[in-house]
Amino acid sequence: MSLNLNAHSHTLRTFVRRQGRITPAQRRALLAHRDFLIDDDHGGLLRARKIFGRQAPLWVEIGFGNGVTLAALAANKPDHDFLGIEVHKPGVGRLLLAMEKQQLRNIRIAEADAMEFVERRIAETSVSRILILFPDPWPKQRQRKRRLLQPTFARTLAHKLVPGGVLHLATDWPEYAGQMLAVLEDIPTLRNCSGRGQYARAPDYRIPTRFELRGLRLGHPVRDLLFERI
Ligand SMILES: C[S@@+](CC[C@H](N)C(=O)[O-])C[C@H]1O[C@@H](n2cnc3c(N)ncnc32)[C@H](O)[C@@H]1O
Repeated sequence: MSLNLNAHSHTLRTFVRRQGRITPAQRRALLAHRDFLIDDDHGGLLRARKIFGRQAPLWVEIGFGNGVTLAALAANKPDHDFLGIEVHKPGVGRLLLAMEKQQLRNIRIAEADAMEFVERRIAETSVSRILILFPDPWPKQRQRKRRLLQPTFARTLAHKLVPGGVLHLATDWPEYAGQMLAVLEDIPTLRNCSGRGQYARAPDYRIPTRFELRGLRLGHPVRDLLFERI
């Protein structure tokens, strides 16, 4: 009997569906701004040029939480396009409200499991930058297999970057930072921008997020990693 490893890994989620309440304003935004949501029913490769109506560098943020980083990036880089992937519906609603308030038109949102969405919907060598900021640390030994940054997904991410494109991770869990470093340095098509074994200085565009602030309050050291696709 053969074992279907893909089916198994699909059930191993990197998130727990939190029941967070959707506010009436978020509910309205989710209905009013459906044009900014990527419909995941049809399943083919995304054509960014068609979706955004122009050719521009594409940045992707996975697990954007409440979307503060994406909204700030989109406002500060109007000549770039942004795709956010998040499973938490209230977070999607919050980002849509920020987009409405700031009149941001260069963001699209996929409410989807990034492990599956990135593999299936994002074309190879199409993304200039991928951000994964403060992914769930799954600190207990027996939970670590649920972490987002595993070798297979890291290789998938590397394939999606254009040459010269950058994968940017940050975490406040030193042991997870070490795992990220080891996994990424093992991928031949990625180069550590800070030199082997080194962490990076946080790029200017990275603003404090809810989860970073929580980590700092707990006294956790924050580490950034920047890897370039070669
Ligand atoms: C610890 S929070 C960090 C949120 C935000 N980046 C921040 O720094 O505040 C991790 C986020 O990743 C999302 N997430 C986890 N696994 C995911 C997946 N496979 N696909 C999409 N989002 C995911 C969670 O819903 C959560 O919002």
